[in-house]
Amino acid sequence: MAVERTFSILKPDATERNLTGAINAMIEKAGLRIVAQKRVRITKEQAEQFYSVHKARPFFGELVEFMISAPVVVQVLEGEGAIARYRDVMGATDPSKAADNTIRKTHAKSIGENSVHGSDSPENAAIEIAQFFSGNEIVG
Ligand code: CMP
Repeated sequence: MAVERTFSILKPDATERNLTGAINAMIEKAGLRIVAQKRVRITKEQAEQFYSVHKARPFFGELVEFMISAPVVVQVLEGEGAIARYRDVMGATDPSKAADNTIRKTHAKSIGENSVHGSDSPENAAIEIAQFFSGNEIVG
């Protein structure tokens, strides 16, 4: 399988509960390497752009307000089949439907406050990584 990169966000509900290290341990245990990472407060404009695909959804406003409510940790993860692998490690969007030992089953509070985001395709991974990192910030 090819080595890929995916984009990850540890969301406000995770940073507020001091779960950065616990979630990073689950990421690394799954064989993914954190090749870039920074803790930032994203702006409303960045959140609206990042989630623009969901603009028409009823939860869009709530999602944007949540993402700017506290710091997040943005990351680039690298590994074989990293995009699918990270989605497996995260578990289902709704934590009540997530499999045991996944990040969302273990830590998420609700479908909205679900601790982590991961890219869903190679195309979106490239777009999302470029929104938050320049090339020389990613060290594999
Ligand atoms: P994420 O993987 O970051 O991509 C879109 C996000 O929208 C998703 O995680 C959830 O946090 C959020 N989301 C999806 N469905 C709902 C919902 N019904 N109510 C609130 N937030 C939602």
